[in-house]
Amino acid sequence: MDFNSIDWNAMWLEESGRAHWKDNMSSKALWDRRADSFDKRINRVRDGESRDKDDYISKMLDHIEVKPGWTVLDIGCGPGTLAIPLAQKADRVTGLDISPEMLKRLRANAEKAGLDNIKYLNSSWQDAFAKGLLNSHDVVVASRSLMSGDMKAALTHIISITRQAAYITFPIVHLPFDFEAYEAIGRNKKKHPPYIYILNMLYQMGIHANVEVLYSRVKTQFPSVEQAMEDIQWRTDPFVLEEKNKLQEFLKKKFAEQKSAPPFTHEGKSQWALIWWRNVN
Ligand SMILES: C[S@@+](CC[C@H](N)C(=O)[O-])C[C@H]1O[C@@H](n2cnc3c(N)ncnc32)[C@H](O)[C@@H]1O
Repeated sequence: MDFNSIDWNAMWLEESGRAHWKDNMSSKALWDRRADSFDKRINRVRDGESRDKDDYISKMLDHIEVKPGWTVLDIGCGPGTLAIPLAQKADRVTGLDISPEMLKRLRANAEKAGLDNIKYLNSSWQDAFAKGLLNSHDVVVASRSLMSGDMKAALTHIISITRQAAYITFPIVHLPFDFEAYEAIGRNKKKHPPYIYILNMLYQMGIHANVEVLYSRVKTQFPSVEQAMEDIQWRTDPFVLEEKNKLQEFLKKKFAEQKSAPPFTHEGKSQWALIWWRNVN
């Protein structure tokens, strides 16, 4: 056996199938429902409000090089977390997202920022690649959006349309409070696959990628136990009654431990693997 004979994607798919969030991370309906709160949070971060102390965005922008005249493809762009600031530097940005509601927020954010160089593409990345909807771009970004699906297929297509450089992020420790809650209710077996598979697959495809771990602060606030339950639920398989009861108990205890009044505040650190490569011309 040698390194190249190992089917890393098969292992990736198997581990993904056992992960907490499963395929619902690619569900249009799920992201449509999250669009409003996601957009509000992103805008609060961008406007520098202290309530959300997530510095992921600024760290990503420090890494992504965009020269004047370049084009950018943002896969799973959401409300424009990166697409908006990147469009301020690039010639053109294509924002691809499975969720029409996310794209609606992106359009509104672009208008607010006076940007008219964004192309909106409502599709899953799987369909966009399969149907050949995407042209080459100088820079390809997939930030927090390749959570499920066939990673080898995604990487193969990203490589084929990247002219200059590509940037992908995948969680190492994502939303630490969720995992604390899963553990409290006894769901402690399933995690997402490790990012190292992505590096291995890229290596097999002839790409020597860089990896940098982005440590970013996260501050989560829940006005009530019920809202905390809902927020934890949407990313994972439906909780059965026994799990719901345990989760409620866990959250009530957490809320009670906090000396100050609601909202309950959790501060933690998330870790994202930023995997990026530059084509050597
Ligand atoms: C966690 S958000 C990330 C948004 C933004 N890139 C960021 O870093 O803040 C994930 C985004 O990916 C989109 N998404 C999820 N699965 C997708 C798929 N298969 N194809 C296209 N977009 C997808 C969702 O609609 C959502 O907007």
